[in-house]
Amino acid sequence: MADITLKDIKKSFHALTIIPSLDLTVADGEFVVIVGPSGCGKSTLLRMVAGLEPITGGDLMIGGLRANDLPPQKRNISMVFQSYALFPHLTVEQNIAFGPEVRGVDRAETKKRVLRAAEILNLTPYLDRKPSEISGGQRQRVAMGRAIVRDPDVFLFDEPLSNLDAHLRVEMRTEIKRLHSAVKATVLYVTHDQIEAMTLADRIVIMNEGRIEQVGTPLELYDAPVNRFVAGFLGSPSMAFIEGQLLVEGNNAVVELHEGSRIPVRKPAGHKSNCAVEIGVRPDNLLFEKSGPIKLYVEVVEPTGSEVLVYGQVAGRPIRCAFRGRPEISAGDILHLSATPDTIHIFDRQSGLRI
Ligand SMILES: Nc1ncnc2c1ncn2[C@@H]1O[C@H](COP(=O)(O)OP(=O)(O)O)[C@@H](O)[C@H]1O
Ligand SMILES: [Mg+2]
Repeated sequence: MADITLKDIKKSFHALTIIPSLDLTVADGEFVVIVGPSGCGKSTLLRMVAGLEPITGGDLMIGGLRANDLPPQKRNISMVFQSYALFPHLTVEQNIAFGPEVRGVDRAETKKRVLRAAEILNLTPYLDRKPSEISGGQRQRVAMGRAIVRDPDVFLFDEPLSNLDAHLRVEMRTEIKRLHSAVKATVLYVTHDQIEAMTLADRIVIMNEGRIEQVGTPLELYDAPVNRFVAGFLGSPSMAFIEGQLLVEGNNAVVELHEGSRIPVRKPAGHKSNCAVEIGVRPDNLLFEKSGPIKLYVEVVEPTGSEVLVYGQVAGRPIRCAFRGRPEISAGDILHLSATPDTIHIFDRQSGLRI
């Protein structure tokens, strides 16, 4: 088993800096999910840990040893990718056994490892089948089986579920969680799917443009996002943002919204008054309130059974929200909404930082 430490890690492709400086520690046995928009450097970071991409600067430590210059096969890492090219002419068992056999692990030991991997991944009944005779989810599990038989200290996953349909993705998510508790390896898992991040992670790393925006447990990030980016990235439907002006008078704080309406907020430390802000409210914290300060012009209504999704505009800006149950809402309605002060996040409009 191994912990991973990235210290002042830098990556450039020629003159182009992709990762200016990144620090991160992953504890032994921890499941850390890196999430961020496409192109922010997630795969590059993972490939540097795997040894597939040279590190431009800084220190990569795996299990306490500097690994910057270790070749991939010396790092005891297994990587699972989005595409899981299996050998079509080999059976499931032969596919899983391929790596150890090539590396000259003896037959009995290989067999033992393959059977254990198959058991963990519920593949035992399919060992004699060819990849064409199993489902997409089972094929992805075979790809994971190949990673498991190496008995690595560290698993790296790069968007392993992106090619699967929605139903299988959910199933495999559970499978990966089960795998982690069975093998207890350190996991670095990359995804652009924030639900995957929320459900799988011990801790989430939110990346943006080669930098870490915030690191924390899923609920820490959800409840206390440090800035506008993190707040908008996590949560589905995403947080609703409304521009306003923060006014502090004595012990009271309000945000003046559109058309002069005011919403009470928690008094922020630092007594910033008359500051341009954005308030953010999770959709399920928006409350119906007669003459509430938030005026929502409804454009599209989508009942899902358990909730109603509403798309519209507040003060000319698009907003999406969800209401539990079956409130009667139609396109063209004007809804008056409110939120309690403890559910309102306030962000400085200039810096994006949480106030
Ligand atoms: N070999 C390369 N040469 C030049 N630029 C690259 C190379 N690989 C990745 N990049 C660039 O690095 C940035 C990050 O890419 P990547 O790590 O694949 O992002 P992500 O996985 O988060 O979508 C992108 O702008 C991409 O174009
Ligand atoms: Mg990628």
